[in-house]
Amino acid sequence: MRFKPSAANFQHFAKHHLNNRLMAFSTPTQTLTSHSTAMADADDHLCSETTDTSAPQPSSNRESSFFETPNGYLTGEARIEKAWSHWKKLGEPKMIVAPMVDNSELPFRILCRKYGAEAAYTPMLHSRIFSENDKYRSQEFTTCKEDRPLFIQFCANDPETLLQAARRVESHCDYVDINLGRGNYGAFLMDKLPLIKSLVEKLALNLTVPVSCKIRIFPDLQDTLNYAKMLEDAGCSLLAVHGRTRDEKDGKKVRANWDAIRVVKNALRIPVLANGNIRHIDDARNCLEQTGADGVLSAESLLENPALFAGFNDHGKVDRGELVVEYLKLCEKYPVPWRMIRSHVHKMLGEWFRIHPHVREDLNKQSRLTFEFLYDMVDRLRDL
Ligand SMILES: Cc1cc2nc3c(=O)[nH]c(=O)nc-3n(C[C@H](O)[C@H](O)[C@H](O)COP(=O)(O)O)c2cc1C
Repeated sequence: MRFKPSAANFQHFAKHHLNNRLMAFSTPTQTLTSHSTAMADADDHLCSETTDTSAPQPSSNRESSFFETPNGYLTGEARIEKAWSHWKKLGEPKMIVAPMVDNSELPFRILCRKYGAEAAYTPMLHSRIFSENDKYRSQEFTTCKEDRPLFIQFCANDPETLLQAARRVESHCDYVDINLGRGNYGAFLMDKLPLIKSLVEKLALNLTVPVSCKIRIFPDLQDTLNYAKMLEDAGCSLLAVHGRTRDEKDGKKVRANWDAIRVVKNALRIPVLANGNIRHIDDARNCLEQTGADGVLSAESLLENPALFAGFNDHGKVDRGELVVEYLKLCEKYPVPWRMIRSHVHKMLGEWFRIHPHVREDLNKQSRLTFEFLYDMVDRLRDL
C-alpha cells in the first residue's frame, strides 16, 4: 500500500530534512564530498513507480477507543489485562526490528521478517509534518498486508498534533509508538515529564489501537523507574527500554545496561521490550533470559545482518550478496527513496567493501543509482 504524493513544497522540505538527517545519523553518504549535493537530490527520488495510491486518511466511522467500553474507560488492572490480551493476540513476538530513521522502511522490514523478525517498528515519523504534508507521508511511510505486527513510531511535542497524525495510521498498525528516546523530540522530552504524560494520555484515550513508548534510561535507576511507572499509569500498553542514557550516544562503545531493563521489567505490569547490544541471536536469547523482557529490539547489528534473528552469522549461513539482492527486489516491489537503498547497501556489504574498497568508491561515484548498477555490483563482488 502506498500513499498519494501531492505537496509542491516537498523539495524544500526534503533538502532541509535530508541535511538534518545527514547531521544526525552516521550514514555512508556522510563521507562523500563533491558528489554529495547532487546525490542528495537524486537520492531523494523514489526508486520506482508505484501502482497503489491510496492515501492514509483519518478513520471515519471510528470504532471505540482501545480502553473504551460501553460503561466508560477501563482503569487500573483492567487496562493491564487489555494490554496483555492484545500482546498475546499478536503472538507475543520476541525478535523485533527497532525503529530506525531511513532504515526500518518497508522493504527492510519485510526482509527481516523473512529471516526471523516477528514484529517491526517503522522509522520515526514527524507527527506535524506527517499530518500536513502528503508527499512526506507518501515517501516516509508505506506498508502492506504482510507487514504486521507493526509499530508505527512518531515524535511529537503536542498532544493534538500527535493524535491527528496517529489517526491517519491507526488502522494500519498494531501499536502507535511514541519516540521518547532519540533526538529533539525524543530524549529531550525526558526533561518535560508532564508533556510526555499528556502525549500518552491523549493517544490512550482516543486511538483504537494501543499506545507504546520507547525510552532511554536515566543515569539514576529510581528516576528510570518513576518514569516507566508514570508511562504505564498514563495508559502506555507496552514499553521498549533502550538500556543507555541519552548521553551515551555511541552504541558501539557503550554497552547497554540490561540490569536496568530487568529492574524496569520487574516493576511494570505491561509488556516490556529490551533494546541495546543485540548483535547475534545468542545476545537475543541471553538478553531475554537476563532481563526477563517480553521481546528484544535490534537496530545497528540488524542493518549489517538482516538475517540475525534467524541465527545466520558470518561463520555460517549468511550470504550478504544474496541478502542485498533480496532487498533490492523488495525495493522494486515496494518503492522507497534511493537514499535508503544506498544506506542499506553500504551497511549490508560493509565487510566486502572493506576488502574491496574500489567497489565502494565506484558506488559512491554514482550520483544516480539504478537497480542494474547495484545487481551488477553484487555480481562483481562475488567474482572478486
Ligand atoms: C540508523 C539508526 C536510526 C535510528 N532511528 C531511530 C528512530 O527513528 N527512532 C528511535 O526510537 N530510535 C532510533 N534509533 C535507535 C535504535 O532504535 C536503538 O534504540 C539503538 O540503536 C540501540 O539499539 P542497538 O544497540 O541494537 O543498535 C536509530 C538507530 C540507528 C542505528
